[in-house]
Amino acid sequence: MIEQLYKTGDLPDNELKKLIENNEYGQELYKKADNVRRKYYGTDVYIRGLIEFTNYCKNDCYYCGIRKSNTIAERYRLGKEEILSCCKNGYELGFRTFVLQGGEDTYFSNELVSCIVSEIKKLYPDCAITLSLGERPYNDYKAWFNAGADRYLLRHETANDKHYRKLHPDSMSLENRKNCLWNLKKIGYQTGSGFMTGSPYQTTENIIEDLRFLQELKPDMIGIGPYISHQNTPFGNNKNGDLHLCLRLLAILRLMFPKALIPATTALGTIDPKGRELGLMAGANIVMPNLSPVKVRKQYQIYDNKICTDEEAAESRVYLEKKVLSAGYKIVTHIGHVCLNEHFLQP
Ligand code: 5AD
Repeated sequence: MIEQLYKTGDLPDNELKKLIENNEYGQELYKKADNVRRKYYGTDVYIRGLIEFTNYCKNDCYYCGIRKSNTIAERYRLGKEEILSCCKNGYELGFRTFVLQGGEDTYFSNELVSCIVSEIKKLYPDCAITLSLGERPYNDYKAWFNAGADRYLLRHETANDKHYRKLHPDSMSLENRKNCLWNLKKIGYQTGSGFMTGSPYQTTENIIEDLRFLQELKPDMIGIGPYISHQNTPFGNNKNGDLHLCLRLLAILRLMFPKALIPATTALGTIDPKGRELGLMAGANIVMPNLSPVKVRKQYQIYDNKICTDEEAAESRVYLEKKVLSAGYKIVTHIGHVCLNEHFLQP
């Protein structure tokens, strides 16, 4: 099965099910996925500087700690100058991609985001800008792309409508989310999608649908991470996603999407102290350390016990460097676009 997945990038549903559900194939899967990542990216690990610039959110996703109904959450927004200062700090630390991530906060209008994006691009023309601010109209996405944004992250969360309904209030729809993803692709963004592993009510069949949707979308970036409960949400008592399920899926994704940019996520590092290293060894090739000011870090609490909330960006960078080396890879100072041909390996 693993050989076929490696050779053809695909498997029938019943075989995917076996690989997803059984840990006995785990080591083989990770090894094969690692071979594939090394073929395209060598041992390079790209870093993305994450700037969590607002935790205001108009949505009310049942799993998320910054959902609108969580009145205990202390809300904050970073101003343009604060965001620029995170970029300056990040640039000096070797970051060449800045990810502006936030809740769905309409305070950040089309114009304001355009202005921030063009300012960053003007100051750091050798850097990529990734946006991750949720579902917005086509024209907003278009304007931000024209202002210089390169990439956009919008996880589809689950590709199954019934499952989607169990995780979100009626005001949201899977159809709209998918539509946003198609718009982003059409505009020309390097587009990222993904889902949580082990989210409440998720079945193996749902996960297979997620993989099928991704095959249709053909994203450049795929983010997955274990679901982790947050105490002030309706799912506060649900159990967390399993480390090994997430690792197997990372490996399956690498084999299905050999050139994709796949992060070893903070959520993976939160459920297990070695989670991110194991993620890299299972096919991931990106890490996304936090560049947000330390004073707001704890407020961007989408799940409980999120790691790296009290260290400065420079400390995280050094710490992560060691972790990545210990797993057999190396952080590089590089814009880190998606690999488009076989001869991509950078000198
Ligand atoms: N556990 C894990 N991941 C979560 N996300 C939101 N809430 C949680 C949680 N409780 C993920 C979603 C979102 C991304 C930014 O974080 O998939 O798209």
